[in-house]
Amino acid sequence: MNKLTNKNIVLGVCGSIAAYKSADLIRRLTELGANIRVVMTQSANEFITPLTLQTLSQNPVHQHLLDCDSESNMSHIELARWADIILIAPCSANFIAKLAHGAADDLLSTVCLATRSPIIIVPAMNNAMWENPATQENIHTLEKREVIRFGPAAGNQACGETGLGRMQEPVQIINNLNEMFQAKLLHGQHILITAGPTQEDIDPVRYISNRSSGKMGFAIAKAAVEAGSKVTLICGPVQRSTPRHVDRIDVRTAEQMNTAVSNFVTQADIFISTAAVADYRPQVTQSEKIKKTSEDLKLELVRNPDILLNVANAANPPFTVGFAAETNNVKENALTKLKLKSLDMIAANQVGNEKGGFDSDENALAVFWPGGEILLPMATKEKIARELIAIVAERFQVSRFSETNPIIKNR
Ligand code: C5P
Repeated sequence: MNKLTNKNIVLGVCGSIAAYKSADLIRRLTELGANIRVVMTQSANEFITPLTLQTLSQNPVHQHLLDCDSESNMSHIELARWADIILIAPCSANFIAKLAHGAADDLLSTVCLATRSPIIIVPAMNNAMWENPATQENIHTLEKREVIRFGPAAGNQACGETGLGRMQEPVQIINNLNEMFQAKLLHGQHILITAGPTQEDIDPVRYISNRSSGKMGFAIAKAAVEAGSKVTLICGPVQRSTPRHVDRIDVRTAEQMNTAVSNFVTQADIFISTAAVADYRPQVTQSEKIKKTSEDLKLELVRNPDILLNVANAANPPFTVGFAAETNNVKENALTKLKLKSLDMIAANQVGNEKGGFDSDENALAVFWPGGEILLPMATKEKIARELIAIVAERFQVSRFSETNPIIKNR
């Protein structure tokens, strides 16, 4: 079955000469079994008729926000809920600006504001409009909000100029959509992820912590959502925006993280422990700020719970993935941890060097599981996260399969 079969797509069409391509796009999408509901902006009418798009999509075209007939047919909220994705092709500079500012003054912008599903824009405009700092700032805002963008392509433009701004061709858009839906490797699974550092209080103003930024854990959470799973992210103190569709729980100390993990772990199919949990905490947290009275100061530290170890050794553990941030002997230390903590997988990286690791945007990982390993060379944390999730998904399926097929497991 095609990846687009039975997918519900709200196709937004804006006012652009490229709107003629929307007709071909609809025809191809319906041939692949997608259900299409077209929402046209007012100016789209100047370029293509609703009748054309209605005939091709085999559904009424939606155009008006405050219209009894349209609302009784399918309201803006119903359209927003119905959509598996909202695809806006062509997407004009004006609509990009409206989307960036959260406008809700017509049907398409209101549906975009009301949806929890991914929004994809396929820009189409003159290259000077595309390059204008106003448009670029709006695009940047949308990227931060995880609006997906296909194109624009470069080449000859209807205005006679050449450059970036052409709407992507329908065939390319369909290839991109197929790739997106293909990625749903973990559909229906619940993934619990920890991220960031923990802070262990010394007194009301001081704590012990580490340099973890949470970037890797957040990138993994995002990749897990893209792969179709429900994601709960338990994070230590980090200033990061929560990826779309991720349930986030903020904690500060290792003990709080441990409690939060035990509250959710029984519902989880997979546990990924990226958090740099402090191994020790002060035995006593002073209730008042410690004064600078003596020449030296001794802090008594006690062990924190090993959250990962506890999860992996619980009665009915999820598929458990640990992280090993090491300054030396990366492979050896990772393999020891994999065994000692009875993990299903461990992802090791070198920290304390110039590139990769804690606060960097890039990382390289060596991933080990009983009987296998794979190296993920230096790349952005987003790319590494997607690759790691693909490996986790594969090993998770294998472990599920061998649990239900003991002959294979015992081989
Ligand atoms: O043994 P080590 O602390 O180096 O193991 C690192 C792995 O264990 C990481 O996945 C980290 O998130 C997890 N960990 C934990 N609880 C601790 C310490 C580390 O879950 N107290």
